[in-house]
Amino acid sequence: MSFLTRRIAIDREIGHVEGHGLKPTLGWPHLIALGVGAIVGTGIYVLPGEAAGLAGPGMMLSFLIAGAVCAAAALCYAEMATLMPRAGSAYTYSYAVMGETVAWIVGWSLILEYTVVCAAVAVGWAGYASALILGWAPAFPQALLKGPESGGVVNLPAVVIALLVAGLLALGTRESARVNFVLVLVKLVALAGFIILALPAFNVAHFTPFMPEGFFAREVDGVKMGVMGAASIIFFAFYGFDAISTASEETKNPARDLTIGIVGSMLLCTLIYMAVAAAAIGAMPPAEFAKSSEPLSFIIRSLGHPGAAGMIALAAVIAMPTVIMVFMYGQTRVFFAMARDGLLPRGLARVHSRLGTPVVVTLFTGVIAAVLGGVLPLGRIVSVANAGTLAAFIATAMAMMLLRRREPARPRRFKTPLWWLVGPFAVLGCAYLFAGLSTFTMIVFVIWNLVGLGLYLLYGRTRSDLARA
Ligand code: ALA
Repeated sequence: MSFLTRRIAIDREIGHVEGHGLKPTLGWPHLIALGVGAIVGTGIYVLPGEAAGLAGPGMMLSFLIAGAVCAAAALCYAEMATLMPRAGSAYTYSYAVMGETVAWIVGWSLILEYTVVCAAVAVGWAGYASALILGWAPAFPQALLKGPESGGVVNLPAVVIALLVAGLLALGTRESARVNFVLVLVKLVALAGFIILALPAFNVAHFTPFMPEGFFAREVDGVKMGVMGAASIIFFAFYGFDAISTASEETKNPARDLTIGIVGSMLLCTLIYMAVAAAAIGAMPPAEFAKSSEPLSFIIRSLGHPGAAGMIALAAVIAMPTVIMVFMYGQTRVFFAMARDGLLPRGLARVHSRLGTPVVVTLFTGVIAAVLGGVLPLGRIVSVANAGTLAAFIATAMAMMLLRRREPARPRRFKTPLWWLVGPFAVLGCAYLFAGLSTFTMIVFVIWNLVGLGLYLLYGRTRSDLARA
Protein backbone atom coordinates (compact mmCIF):
# COMPACT_ATOMS: atom_id res chain seq x y z
CA MET A 1 0.00 0.00 0.00
CA SER A 2 1.23 3.50 -0.75
CA PHE A 3 2.81 5.35 2.16
CA LEU A 4 0.32 8.15 1.51
CA THR A 5 -2.69 6.07 2.40
CA ARG A 6 -1.56 3.16 4.58
CA ARG A 7 -3.44 3.05 7.86
CA ILE A 8 -3.24 1.29 11.20
CA ALA A 9 -6.24 -0.78 12.28
CA ILE A 10 -8.69 1.00 14.56
CA ASP A 11 -8.89 -1.84 17.02
CA ARG A 12 -5.18 -2.60 17.09
CA GLU A 13 -3.83 -2.95 20.60
CA ILE A 14 -6.96 -1.77 22.31
CA GLY A 15 -6.47 -2.75 25.91
CA HIS A 16 -10.15 -2.54 26.67
CA VAL A 17 -10.99 -6.23 26.56
CA GLU A 18 -13.72 -7.21 28.98
CA GLY A 19 -12.07 -8.21 32.26
CA HIS A 20 -8.66 -6.87 31.21
CA GLY A 21 -9.23 -3.16 30.96
CA LEU A 22 -8.46 -0.53 33.58
CA LYS A 23 -10.92 -0.43 36.44
CA PRO A 24 -13.78 1.96 35.63
CA THR A 25 -13.75 4.08 38.78
CA LEU A 26 -14.19 7.64 37.54
CA GLY A 27 -17.44 9.56 37.39
CA TRP A 28 -18.12 12.94 35.81
CA PRO A 29 -17.06 14.99 38.88
CA HIS A 30 -13.60 13.40 38.64
CA LEU A 31 -13.48 14.18 34.94
CA ILE A 32 -14.43 17.81 35.50
CA ALA A 33 -11.67 18.11 38.13
CA LEU A 34 -9.20 16.49 35.73
CA GLY A 35 -10.24 18.82 32.93
CA VAL A 36 -10.22 22.03 34.95
CA GLY A 37 -6.82 21.01 36.42
CA ALA A 38 -5.30 20.72 32.96
CA ILE A 39 -7.13 23.64 31.36
CA VAL A 40 -6.91 26.53 33.84
CA GLY A 41 -3.47 28.13 33.69
CA THR A 42 -1.70 30.86 31.75
CA GLY A 43 -4.79 31.33 29.59
CA ILE A 44 -6.77 32.99 32.36
CA TYR A 45 -4.03 34.15 34.70
CA VAL A 46 -2.00 36.01 32.07
CA LEU A 47 -3.71 36.19 28.68
CA PRO A 48 -6.48 38.62 29.73
CA GLY A 49 -3.66 41.17 29.54
CA GLU A 50 -2.78 40.22 25.93
CA ALA A 51 -6.45 39.93 24.94
CA ALA A 52 -7.34 43.29 26.49
CA GLY A 53 -4.75 44.92 24.24
CA LEU A 54 -6.18 43.17 21.14
CA ALA A 55 -9.93 43.44 21.68
CA GLY A 56 -10.60 45.73 24.67
CA PRO A 57 -13.76 44.77 26.59
CA GLY A 58 -14.83 42.75 23.52
CA MET A 59 -12.39 40.09 24.74
CA MET A 60 -15.35 38.65 26.64
CA LEU A 61 -16.81 37.64 23.28
CA SER A 62 -13.41 36.24 22.30
CA PHE A 63 -13.57 33.94 25.32
CA LEU A 64 -17.07 32.83 24.33
CA ILE A 65 -16.13 32.10 20.71
CA ALA A 66 -12.90 30.26 21.53
CA GLY A 67 -14.74 28.22 24.19
CA ALA A 68 -17.49 27.18 21.75
CA VAL A 69 -15.00 26.07 19.06
CA CYS A 70 -12.96 24.19 21.63
CA ALA A 71 -16.04 22.45 23.06
CA ALA A 72 -17.04 21.20 19.60
CA ALA A 73 -13.52 19.88 18.99
CA ALA A 74 -13.52 18.29 22.44
CA LEU A 75 -16.65 16.28 21.64
CA CYS A 76 -15.06 14.91 18.45
CA TYR A 77 -11.98 14.14 20.51
CA ALA A 78 -14.01 12.18 23.05
CA GLU A 79 -15.58 10.00 20.35
CA MET A 80 -12.18 9.12 18.87
CA ALA A 81 -10.58 8.62 22.27
CA THR A 82 -13.18 6.06 23.31
CA LEU A 83 -12.80 4.25 19.98
CA MET A 84 -9.00 4.15 20.22
CA PRO A 85 -7.86 4.42 23.83
CA ARG A 86 -4.16 4.29 22.93
CA ALA A 87 -1.38 6.79 23.46
CA GLY A 88 -0.86 9.41 20.78
CA SER A 89 -4.25 11.19 20.62
CA ALA A 90 -4.87 13.05 17.35
CA TYR A 91 -1.82 11.42 15.74
CA THR A 92 -3.23 7.96 16.40
CA TYR A 93 -6.76 8.80 15.22
CA SER A 94 -5.40 10.33 12.02
CA TYR A 95 -3.24 7.26 11.40
CA ALA A 96 -6.25 4.97 11.62
CA VAL A 97 -8.57 7.08 9.50
CA MET A 98 -6.58 9.32 7.14
CA GLY A 99 -3.35 7.41 6.64
CA GLU A 100 0.29 7.64 7.59
CA THR A 101 1.34 10.87 5.88
CA VAL A 102 -1.47 12.93 7.41
CA ALA A 103 -0.80 11.22 10.75
CA TRP A 104 2.84 12.22 10.53
CA ILE A 105 1.94 15.86 9.93
CA VAL A 106 -0.48 15.77 12.86
CA GLY A 107 2.02 14.05 15.16
CA TRP A 108 4.74 16.46 14.15
CA SER A 109 2.35 19.38 14.83
CA LEU A 110 1.51 17.88 18.23
CA ILE A 111 5.21 17.79 19.12
CA LEU A 112 5.38 21.49 18.30
CA GLU A 113 2.21 22.18 20.29
CA TYR A 114 3.11 20.30 23.44
CA THR A 115 6.65 21.63 23.71
CA VAL A 116 5.59 25.18 22.99
CA VAL A 117 2.66 25.04 25.43
CA CYS A 118 5.13 24.01 28.15
CA ALA A 119 7.23 27.07 27.26
CA ALA A 120 4.16 29.33 27.22
CA VAL A 121 2.89 28.21 30.61
CA ALA A 122 6.44 28.53 31.96
CA VAL A 123 6.50 32.18 30.79
CA GLY A 124 3.03 32.79 32.23
CA TRP A 125 4.15 31.26 35.51
CA ALA A 126 7.27 33.40 35.44
CA GLY A 127 5.17 36.60 35.27
CA TYR A 128 3.70 35.83 38.70
CA ALA A 129 6.89 34.30 40.10
CA SER A 130 8.86 37.43 39.12
CA ALA A 131 6.38 39.66 40.95
CA LEU A 132 6.86 37.54 44.07
CA ILE A 133 10.66 37.50 43.68
CA LEU A 134 10.76 41.29 43.35
CA GLY A 135 8.48 41.59 46.37
CA TRP A 136 10.85 39.51 48.47
CA ALA A 137 14.15 40.68 46.93
CA PRO A 138 13.68 44.09 45.26
CA ALA A 139 17.37 44.18 44.24
CA PHE A 140 17.04 41.03 42.07
CA PRO A 141 18.36 41.94 38.58
CA GLN A 142 15.36 42.63 36.33
CA ALA A 143 17.34 41.56 33.28
CA LEU A 144 17.14 37.98 34.54
CA LEU A 145 13.35 38.09 34.73
CA LYS A 146 12.62 38.97 31.09
CA GLY A 147 13.66 37.69 27.67
CA PRO A 148 15.52 39.90 25.17
CA GLU A 149 12.37 41.04 23.27
CA SER A 150 10.93 42.35 26.55
CA GLY A 151 14.07 44.31 27.39
CA GLY A 152 15.89 41.73 29.53
CA VAL A 153 18.52 39.03 28.98
CA VAL A 154 16.82 35.79 29.95
CA ASN A 155 13.59 34.82 31.66
CA LEU A 156 15.26 32.77 34.36
CA PRO A 157 12.11 31.75 36.29
CA ALA A 158 10.66 30.29 33.06
CA VAL A 159 13.88 28.33 32.45
CA VAL A 160 13.91 27.01 36.01
CA ILE A 161 10.27 25.88 36.11
CA ALA A 162 10.50 24.11 32.72
CA LEU A 163 13.61 22.20 33.80
CA LEU A 164 12.18 21.46 37.23
CA VAL A 165 8.97 19.94 35.89
CA ALA A 166 10.93 17.92 33.31
CA GLY A 167 13.20 16.64 36.09
CA LEU A 168 10.24 15.63 38.25
CA LEU A 169 8.57 13.82 35.34
CA ALA A 170 11.81 12.05 34.44
CA LEU A 171 12.05 10.85 38.04
CA GLY A 172 8.60 9.33 37.62
CA THR A 173 6.47 11.92 39.42
CA ARG A 174 2.81 11.83 38.39
CA GLU A 175 0.28 13.98 39.99
CA SER A 176 -2.27 11.97 41.99
CA ALA A 177 -5.99 12.65 41.66
CA ARG A 178 -5.98 14.05 45.19
CA VAL A 179 -3.13 16.50 44.54
CA ASN A 180 -4.86 17.56 41.33
CA PHE A 181 -8.09 18.16 43.25
CA VAL A 182 -6.34 20.36 45.82
CA LEU A 183 -4.55 22.36 43.11
CA VAL A 184 -7.81 22.83 41.18
CA LEU A 185 -9.31 24.23 44.39
CA VAL A 186 -6.32 26.56 44.88
CA LYS A 187 -6.70 27.89 41.32
CA LEU A 188 -10.45 28.36 41.57
CA VAL A 189 -10.37 29.95 45.03
CA ALA A 190 -7.76 32.43 43.78
CA LEU A 191 -9.92 33.31 40.76
CA ALA A 192 -13.01 33.62 42.99
CA GLY A 193 -10.99 35.84 45.36
CA PHE A 194 -10.00 38.01 42.42
CA ILE A 195 -13.63 38.45 41.34
CA ILE A 196 -14.80 39.24 44.89
CA LEU A 197 -12.09 41.87 45.40
CA ALA A 198 -12.46 43.39 41.95
CA LEU A 199 -16.27 43.70 41.93
CA PRO A 200 -16.60 46.62 44.40
CA ALA A 201 -14.56 48.73 41.96
CA PHE A 202 -16.83 47.77 39.03
CA ASN A 203 -17.38 50.66 36.65
CA VAL A 204 -19.65 50.10 33.64
CA ALA A 205 -17.96 52.98 31.82
CA HIS A 206 -14.88 50.75 31.30
CA PHE A 207 -16.95 48.66 28.85
CA THR A 208 -17.28 51.45 26.29
CA PRO A 209 -16.24 51.39 23.58
CA PHE A 210 -16.97 47.65 23.73
CA MET A 211 -15.04 46.67 20.60
CA PRO A 212 -12.42 49.40 20.05
CA GLU A 213 -10.71 47.29 17.37
CA GLY A 214 -13.98 46.00 15.88
CA PHE A 215 -15.15 42.40 15.53
CA PHE A 216 -13.38 41.17 12.38
CA ALA A 217 -11.05 44.17 11.90
CA ARG A 218 -7.45 42.93 11.61
CA GLU A 219 -3.89 43.95 10.98
CA VAL A 220 -1.96 41.17 12.79
CA ASP A 221 1.77 41.96 12.52
CA GLY A 222 1.36 45.72 12.83
CA VAL A 223 -1.00 44.33 15.59
CA LYS A 224 -4.47 46.12 16.04
CA MET A 225 -6.78 43.01 15.76
CA GLY A 226 -10.40 42.83 17.11
CA VAL A 227 -12.59 40.22 18.79
CA MET A 228 -11.83 37.36 16.37
CA GLY A 229 -8.07 38.01 16.42
CA ALA A 230 -8.12 37.92 20.22
CA ALA A 231 -10.13 34.67 20.06
CA SER A 232 -7.25 33.10 18.07
CA ILE A 233 -4.96 33.84 21.03
CA ILE A 234 -7.46 33.22 23.85
CA PHE A 235 -8.10 29.78 22.36
CA PHE A 236 -4.99 28.81 24.33
CA ALA A 237 -6.97 29.13 27.57
CA PHE A 238 -9.29 26.25 26.69
CA TYR A 239 -7.20 23.30 25.70
CA GLY A 240 -5.82 20.62 27.92
CA PHE A 241 -9.02 18.57 27.94
CA ASP A 242 -7.08 15.76 26.25
CA ALA A 243 -6.49 14.81 29.86
CA ILE A 244 -10.16 13.90 30.10
CA SER A 245 -10.27 11.81 26.96
CA THR A 246 -7.18 9.86 27.97
CA ALA A 247 -9.14 8.74 31.03
CA SER A 248 -11.95 7.40 28.86
CA GLU A 249 -11.07 3.79 29.63
CA GLU A 250 -11.52 4.39 33.32
CA THR A 251 -14.92 6.07 33.30
CA LYS A 252 -17.89 4.26 34.78
CA ASN A 253 -20.40 5.33 32.16
CA PRO A 254 -18.44 6.79 29.22
CA ALA A 255 -21.39 8.06 27.22
CA ARG A 256 -22.78 10.06 30.14
CA ASP A 257 -19.61 10.88 32.09
CA LEU A 258 -17.53 11.96 29.11
CA THR A 259 -20.27 14.24 27.79
CA ILE A 260 -20.80 15.85 31.18
CA GLY A 261 -17.05 15.87 31.92
CA ILE A 262 -16.00 17.50 28.66
CA VAL A 263 -18.94 19.81 28.06
CA GLY A 264 -19.12 20.54 31.80
CA SER A 265 -15.49 21.55 32.17
CA MET A 266 -15.69 23.63 28.98
CA LEU A 267 -18.83 25.40 30.22
CA LEU A 268 -17.37 25.86 33.67
CA CYS A 269 -14.11 27.29 32.29
CA THR A 270 -15.99 29.55 29.86
CA LEU A 271 -18.15 30.91 32.68
CA ILE A 272 -15.20 31.38 35.03
CA TYR A 273 -13.14 33.05 32.28
CA MET A 274 -15.93 35.42 31.34
CA ALA A 275 -16.55 36.30 34.98
CA VAL A 276 -12.82 36.98 35.53
CA ALA A 277 -12.63 39.02 32.32
CA ALA A 278 -15.74 41.04 33.26
CA ALA A 279 -14.44 41.69 36.79
CA ALA A 280 -11.03 42.73 35.43
CA ILE A 281 -12.48 45.16 32.88
CA GLY A 282 -15.00 46.51 35.40
CA ALA A 283 -12.20 47.23 37.86
CA MET A 284 -9.74 48.81 35.43
CA PRO A 285 -9.85 50.05 31.82
CA PRO A 286 -8.36 47.24 29.66
CA ALA A 287 -5.61 49.46 28.24
CA GLU A 288 -4.18 49.85 31.76
CA PHE A 289 -3.64 46.15 32.48
CA ALA A 290 -2.90 45.16 28.88
CA LYS A 291 0.87 45.37 29.38
CA SER A 292 1.05 43.51 32.69
CA SER A 293 2.61 40.04 32.82
CA GLU A 294 0.58 39.29 35.97
CA PRO A 295 -2.66 41.17 35.25
CA LEU A 296 -4.83 39.69 38.00
CA SER A 297 -2.38 40.55 40.80
CA PHE A 298 -1.65 43.89 39.16
CA ILE A 299 -5.33 44.88 39.21
CA ILE A 300 -5.85 43.79 42.83
CA ARG A 301 -2.64 45.56 43.90
CA SER A 302 -3.78 48.73 42.15
CA LEU A 303 -7.08 48.51 44.01
CA GLY A 304 -5.14 48.73 47.26
CA HIS A 305 -4.93 45.06 48.34
CA PRO A 306 -1.21 44.20 48.13
CA GLY A 307 -1.57 41.19 50.47
CA ALA A 308 -4.38 39.65 48.41
CA ALA A 309 -2.44 40.37 45.21
CA GLY A 310 0.47 38.40 46.69
CA MET A 311 -1.87 35.51 47.56
CA ILE A 312 -3.20 35.38 43.99
CA ALA A 313 0.37 35.34 42.65
CA LEU A 314 1.27 32.58 45.11
CA ALA A 315 -1.76 30.50 44.08
CA ALA A 316 -0.77 30.88 40.41
CA VAL A 317 2.81 29.90 41.18
CA ILE A 318 1.73 26.84 43.16
CA ALA A 319 -0.95 25.58 40.80
CA MET A 320 0.22 26.44 37.27
CA PRO A 321 3.10 23.95 37.01
CA THR A 322 0.52 21.13 36.83
CA VAL A 323 -0.47 22.41 33.39
CA ILE A 324 3.17 22.12 32.28
CA MET A 325 3.24 18.63 33.72
CA VAL A 326 0.15 17.53 31.77
CA PHE A 327 1.56 18.80 28.47
CA MET A 328 5.10 17.54 29.01
CA TYR A 329 3.66 14.14 29.81
CA GLY A 330 1.51 14.35 26.67
CA GLN A 331 4.61 15.16 24.64
CA THR A 332 6.38 12.01 25.79
CA ARG A 333 3.33 9.95 24.88
CA VAL A 334 3.19 11.35 21.34
CA PHE A 335 6.90 10.65 20.85
CA PHE A 336 6.33 7.22 22.32
CA ALA A 337 3.44 6.44 19.96
CA MET A 338 5.33 7.67 16.88
CA ALA A 339 8.48 5.79 17.79
CA ARG A 340 6.52 2.63 18.54
CA ASP A 341 5.01 2.81 15.05
CA GLY A 342 8.53 3.13 13.62
CA LEU A 343 8.13 6.72 12.38
CA LEU A 344 10.75 8.06 14.80
CA PRO A 345 13.84 6.24 16.06
CA ARG A 346 12.72 3.75 18.71
CA GLY A 347 15.59 4.81 20.96
CA LEU A 348 13.80 8.12 21.50
CA ALA A 349 10.99 6.43 23.36
CA ARG A 350 13.22 4.12 25.37
CA VAL A 351 12.06 3.80 28.94
CA HIS A 352 14.79 4.12 31.57
CA SER A 353 15.38 0.74 33.18
CA ARG A 354 15.36 1.98 36.79
CA LEU A 355 13.11 5.05 36.64
CA GLY A 356 10.55 3.53 34.28
CA THR A 357 10.11 6.83 32.38
CA PRO A 358 11.17 7.98 28.89
CA VAL A 359 14.01 10.06 30.35
CA VAL A 360 15.65 11.20 27.08
CA VAL A 361 12.46 12.57 25.52
CA THR A 362 11.32 14.16 28.77
CA LEU A 363 14.57 16.00 29.40
CA PHE A 364 14.84 16.98 25.73
CA THR A 365 11.36 18.53 25.88
CA GLY A 366 12.27 20.29 29.12
CA VAL A 367 15.43 21.80 27.64
CA ILE A 368 13.68 23.04 24.48
CA ALA A 369 10.80 24.50 26.52
CA ALA A 370 13.33 26.16 28.84
CA VAL A 371 15.22 27.72 25.93
CA LEU A 372 12.04 28.99 24.23
CA GLY A 373 10.58 30.25 27.50
CA GLY A 374 13.89 31.86 28.41
CA VAL A 375 14.08 34.08 25.34
CA LEU A 376 10.67 34.51 23.66
CA PRO A 377 7.75 36.71 24.74
CA LEU A 378 4.46 35.07 25.68
CA GLY A 379 2.38 36.30 22.73
CA ARG A 380 4.65 34.68 20.15
CA ILE A 381 4.87 31.34 21.95
CA VAL A 382 1.13 31.12 22.61
CA SER A 383 0.38 31.80 18.96
CA VAL A 384 2.70 28.99 17.77
CA ALA A 385 1.23 26.58 20.35
CA ASN A 386 -2.24 27.42 19.07
CA ALA A 387 -1.24 26.64 15.47
CA GLY A 388 -0.16 23.09 16.36
CA THR A 389 -3.25 22.54 18.48
CA LEU A 390 -5.67 23.87 15.87
CA ALA A 391 -4.13 21.54 13.27
CA ALA A 392 -4.58 18.58 15.62
CA PHE A 393 -8.18 19.55 16.40
CA ILE A 394 -9.04 19.86 12.72
CA ALA A 395 -7.54 16.43 12.09
CA THR A 396 -9.48 14.85 14.94
CA ALA A 397 -12.80 16.33 13.83
CA MET A 398 -12.11 15.20 10.24
CA ALA A 399 -11.23 11.70 11.47
CA MET A 400 -14.47 11.54 13.46
CA MET A 401 -16.59 12.57 10.46
CA LEU A 402 -14.82 10.36 7.93
CA LEU A 403 -15.18 7.35 10.17
CA ARG A 404 -18.88 8.03 10.74
CA ARG A 405 -19.36 7.95 6.95
CA ARG A 406 -17.07 5.00 6.37
CA GLU A 407 -18.18 2.79 9.24
CA PRO A 408 -21.51 4.03 10.55
CA ALA A 409 -22.29 0.73 12.25
CA ARG A 410 -19.06 0.46 14.24
CA PRO A 411 -19.95 0.35 17.95
CA ARG A 412 -19.05 3.61 19.64
CA ARG A 413 -18.96 4.00 23.41
CA PHE A 414 -19.33 7.73 23.06
CA LYS A 415 -21.04 9.47 20.17
CA THR A 416 -20.63 13.15 19.36
CA PRO A 417 -24.15 14.59 19.56
CA LEU A 418 -25.31 16.05 16.19
CA TRP A 419 -21.99 14.98 14.65
CA TRP A 420 -22.92 16.34 11.22
CA LEU A 421 -23.18 19.80 12.77
CA VAL A 422 -20.59 19.68 15.57
CA GLY A 423 -17.88 18.19 13.30
CA PRO A 424 -18.02 20.83 10.54
CA PHE A 425 -18.37 23.58 13.19
CA ALA A 426 -15.17 22.35 14.87
CA VAL A 427 -13.28 22.16 11.54
CA LEU A 428 -14.42 25.55 10.24
CA GLY A 429 -14.08 27.24 13.63
CA CYS A 430 -10.53 25.96 14.09
CA ALA A 431 -9.62 26.88 10.49
CA TYR A 432 -10.92 30.40 11.08
CA LEU A 433 -8.98 30.80 14.32
CA PHE A 434 -5.90 29.43 12.54
CA ALA A 435 -6.28 32.07 9.84
CA GLY A 436 -6.26 34.72 12.59
CA LEU A 437 -2.74 33.84 13.77
CA SER A 438 0.26 36.02 12.95
CA THR A 439 2.45 35.72 9.87
CA PHE A 440 5.36 34.81 12.15
CA THR A 441 3.33 31.87 13.45
CA MET A 442 2.35 30.70 9.98
CA ILE A 443 5.99 30.80 8.88
CA VAL A 444 7.13 28.82 11.91
CA PHE A 445 4.32 26.31 11.34
CA VAL A 446 5.11 25.84 7.65
CA ILE A 447 8.88 25.56 8.20
CA TRP A 448 8.32 23.12 11.04
CA ASN A 449 6.14 20.92 8.85
CA LEU A 450 8.44 21.11 5.82
CA VAL A 451 11.33 19.95 8.01
CA GLY A 452 9.01 17.28 9.39
CA LEU A 453 7.97 16.07 5.93
CA GLY A 454 11.62 15.94 4.89
CA LEU A 455 12.38 13.77 7.91
CA TYR A 456 9.42 11.58 7.14
CA LEU A 457 10.44 11.02 3.54
CA LEU A 458 14.01 10.25 4.58
CA TYR A 459 13.24 8.13 7.61
CA GLY A 460 9.69 7.24 8.69
CA ARG A 461 8.37 6.37 5.22
CA THR A 462 10.67 3.36 4.95
CA ARG A 463 11.09 2.51 8.66
CA SER A 464 7.37 2.56 9.48
CA ASP A 465 6.03 -0.71 10.84
CA LEU A 466 3.49 -0.67 8.04
CA ALA A 467 6.24 -0.37 5.41
CA ARG A 468 7.78 -3.52 6.70
CA ALA A 469 4.56 -5.43 7.32
N1 ALA B 1 -5.19 25.94 28.78
C1 ALA B 1 -3.88 25.93 29.32
C2 ALA B 1 -3.52 27.23 29.95
O1 ALA B 1 -4.27 28.17 29.83
C3 ALA B 1 -2.88 25.54 28.27
O2 ALA B 1 -2.49 27.33 30.58
